[in-house]
Amino acid sequence: MREEFGLPLDMPPFQGKIHPDYRDSRFLEAIFDCQGLLSQPTCEILLDSRNRVGKVELSISETRTRTVVIKEFRTQGVDKLKSAFHPSKALKAWRGASALYIRGFNTPCPVVFLEKRKGRFIEQSFFLSEMIENVEEIRFLFPRLEPDKLKELLSALADYLSRIQSEGILHRDLSDGNILVKNDGEEYEYYLIDTNRIREKRKVGDLSQIKSLVRLGIPRDFQKYFLEQHFKTDKLPTFIWFWYRFNKVRFTWIIELKKKLHLKQIAQKLKIQ
Ligand SMILES: Nc1ncnc2c1ncn2[C@@H]1O[C@H](COP(=O)(O)OP(=O)(O)O)[C@@H](O)[C@H]1O
Ligand SMILES: [Mg+2]
Repeated sequence: MREEFGLPLDMPPFQGKIHPDYRDSRFLEAIFDCQGLLSQPTCEILLDSRNRVGKVELSISETRTRTVVIKEFRTQGVDKLKSAFHPSKALKAWRGASALYIRGFNTPCPVVFLEKRKGRFIEQSFFLSEMIENVEEIRFLFPRLEPDKLKELLSALADYLSRIQSEGILHRDLSDGNILVKNDGEEYEYYLIDTNRIREKRKVGDLSQIKSLVRLGIPRDFQKYFLEQHFKTDKLPTFIWFWYRFNKVRFTWIIELKKKLHLKQIAQKLKIQ
């Protein structure tokens, strides 16, 4: 059974869960209006597209403050209809982050999730996590590193991801923007974010593992090396390589097709996305 993390939070019209360290009246008062926090000048917006993500400093006691990242899920169109029968993305993000956090895997510490429903439908939902300072998205490192350094990065990444997957955790949106990297000069530390598409299973099979890795933009010449590190072998079985390349080409092709047909813009206009 899934281990539950956090304490229930009942703050009408919001329901949610909260990390015990954050049950301070000042903090609760501030997060009651997350949309207001995201719009205030002291909030630094990190991303504003389908979701809005911003970082802000908030009090958690009389003397202490913490910088937290607020993610507002904009639920509209088909997603809104689906929300009547499914958990909100904010709750899924909470569960995904908790699954990593309670097993000791690096992810920003989950702080709170909030959702407001009108009838059965989601009106607003937010996921808050602690800001990780001095990190960068792995996408910026791939083109910058010399081959030796890139191999070091990929070897450590393969080890981190295979340990997570061997615990039955599958991140189904493992893209370059969702892995944050900290480098203290000696070794690399990774933080997984965008946790609403994490699933917990009894066992993650090889085929699902490989499929989940194709969203990472690993340079072509290093893909085999990365898989060898991931599966801890010197000689990668042909079927693993074939399955990876097949899914990679398929994924790249779908992205290209979506771009050509302007599917993203159409979906946004129709409020499907
Ligand atoms: N806790 C965090 N600490 C540091 N940076 C973060 C944190 N959460 C999000 N970010 C930054 O904001 C970006 C967008 O967040 P993300 O949750 O991936 O949103 P989206 O679902 O829209 O991709 C990330 O790629 C990362 O650079
Ligand atoms: Mg992301």
